[in-house]
Amino acid sequence: MTGPARAGLPLDGDAIVKLAARSMFELFSDMAQGMMLVDRDGRVVWINEAYKKFLPALGFERVEDFVGRPVEEVVPNTLMRHVIESGKPILVDLLSNKAGTFVVSRIPLRDEAGQVIGALGMVLFDHPETTLQPLIAKFATLQRDLDEARKALAAQRRTKYTLASFIGSSPAVLEVKRQARRAAQSGATVLLLGETGTGKELLAHAIHAGSVRAQRPFISVNLAAVPETLLEAEFFGVSPGAYTGADRKGRDGKFRLADGGTLFLDEIGDMPVALQAKLLRALQEQEFEPLGSNQVIKVDVRVIAATSRDLRKLASQGRFREDLYYRLNVLPIRLPTLRDRLSDLEALAESLLEGIAVRTGMPQRELAPSALAALASYSWPGNVRELRNLLEQAAMLTDSQRLSGEDFAAILPIAAAVQPTEEAAPRTLRPLPQLIAEIERNSIESALAATRGNKASAAKLLGISRATLYERLAALKRLSA
Ligand SMILES: Nc1ncnc2c1ncn2[C@@H]1O[C@H](COP(=O)(O)OP(=O)(O)OP(=O)(O)O)[C@@H](O)[C@H]1O
Ligand SMILES: [Mg+2]
Repeated sequence: MTGPARAGLPLDGDAIVKLAARSMFELFSDMAQGMMLVDRDGRVVWINEAYKKFLPALGFERVEDFVGRPVEEVVPNTLMRHVIESGKPILVDLLSNKAGTFVVSRIPLRDEAGQVIGALGMVLFDHPETTLQPLIAKFATLQRDLDEARKALAAQRRTKYTLASFIGSSPAVLEVKRQARRAAQSGATVLLLGETGTGKELLAHAIHAGSVRAQRPFISVNLAAVPETLLEAEFFGVSPGAYTGADRKGRDGKFRLADGGTLFLDEIGDMPVALQAKLLRALQEQEFEPLGSNQVIKVDVRVIAATSRDLRKLASQGRFREDLYYRLNVLPIRLPTLRDRLSDLEALAESLLEGIAVRTGMPQRELAPSALAALASYSWPGNVRELRNLLEQAAMLTDSQRLSGEDFAAILPIAAAVQPTEEAAPRTLRPLPQLIAEIERNSIESALAATRGNKASAAKLLGISRATLYERLAALKRLSA
C-alpha cells in the first residue's frame, strides 16, 4: 500500500513526468523573453504575454494581426517550418531580422503517436550583444589572437623561403634563379633535378612563395618515405568507410589539401609504376577519385616535382612511365652541384654560419683563408647540406672565433685527404656518440654520392632498409636543423 504523497509529491512515474514537464515548461516560459506556438502547417497559433513586446519591432500593433499568419510572413528568417518538417529541434541559434538579433530555441511538438503536430519557439535572450557580452568579448579576444598568430606565421613563411634565401651568385645559380622566377610566374609543372643536398626543396618553396599561390597551401609528399601500400591513400584520400580498418570518417589526400596551392612531389623517381598512371590522370585532368569512392573530385593544383635520379634513364628502362616523364618535364630546372659552383662557397658558408649562430645562440664564426682553401679542395658529394653539417661540426669542436684549415682537416672525410698526420690522434679522442654520429653521417653521404643520390641503392650499399635510411637522414637533418 502506498502512503499519502509527501508534501504533495506524487509517487507514481507518470505523475512525476507530468509534473516535471509542467515545471520545466513554466521555468522556460518565465525565463524566456517570449514564446510562440505554430501548428503543423506553420501558422502562428499562440504567443505568450512576454512575446507581445516584440510585435512593434516586427511591424505589428495588434496580436490578432500576428496570430493566424504563416510564421515566416511575420517573423523574417525564422526556421520554425524547418523544425516542423525535419522533426528535429534547433536547441540554440542566432536569429537576426529587422527586430534585432536574438538567441532562440525551437522544439518540435509531437502527439501521443509521435507525429509532429507543431513547434514551440522561444526567445532565450534578446540583445545578445549586451546579455552575452562576456562570452562575445572572450570570443573576440580569441579571434584577434588567432588572426595575429596567423599573420605572424604567414610573415615567417614568406621571409623564410624566398628566392633571396637561395644563396649564390655564380653564373649557374643566376641561371637557376632566372628559371625559377619564370616558373613562379607561369603556373606550369616544374621538375627540379639535382644531386642530393643541392637545394631542390628550398627552391620548390621559393617558387611557391613567388607565385600567385603564395597565400595558399604548400603540401609536400616524399614518395620514397611513404610505404608503397599507403601512397594511393596519401595522394587521393580515402572515402568514409572505404575498407575495413579505414577511418570511418574518411581522410583527405594531399591533392585535396593542396587545392588552390602547390603540391611538392619529392623523390618522384621513387614512385611505384602502378601509381604513375593515376598520378598522370590527376595531373592532366585535375581530378581524381578517393579510395573506395566513385565520386570525382576536382582540384586546382600546381605540381613541383623533384628527384636526384636520372628520370630520362629510368623512363628508357621502363621503370618510369614515359608519358608521365614528358608531362612532368615541362619546365625542368637543373640545380648545379657545389663542385660546379665553388665560387659560391664563401657566401654559402657565411650564410650557413649565420644560421648556425642564430640557432645555437653563440657568436658567429668566420673562416680563415686556410679554411676556405681546405673546403675548396673537397669534392662535396652531399653538396650544400654536407657543407652545413661540416660547418656545424667544426663550430662545435672549437671555441675559436675563426675557423682554420686545421679545424676542417680533422673532420673532412678521408676522400679529401687534407693533411691527415698528427690531427688523427686528438680526432679519435672524442666522445664515442659524437664519433659514431659522424661516421654514420659520412657513410650515408658517401653512399649517396656513390649512387648519385639514389636512396634505394644507397640503402642497399649500407646494408640497411630504405625506411631506415630515411629515418637516419631525417635524424641527421634534425640534428643540424
Ligand atoms: N643555395 C642555397 N642557399 C642556402 N642554403 C641552401 C642552398 N641550397 C641548399 N641549401 C641548404 O642545404 C640543405 C639541403 O637543401 P635541400 O633539402 O633543399 O636539398 P635537396 O636537393 O632537396 O636534397 P635531397 O635530394 O637530399 O632531398 C638545406 O638546409 C638547405 O637550406
Ligand atoms: Mg629534398
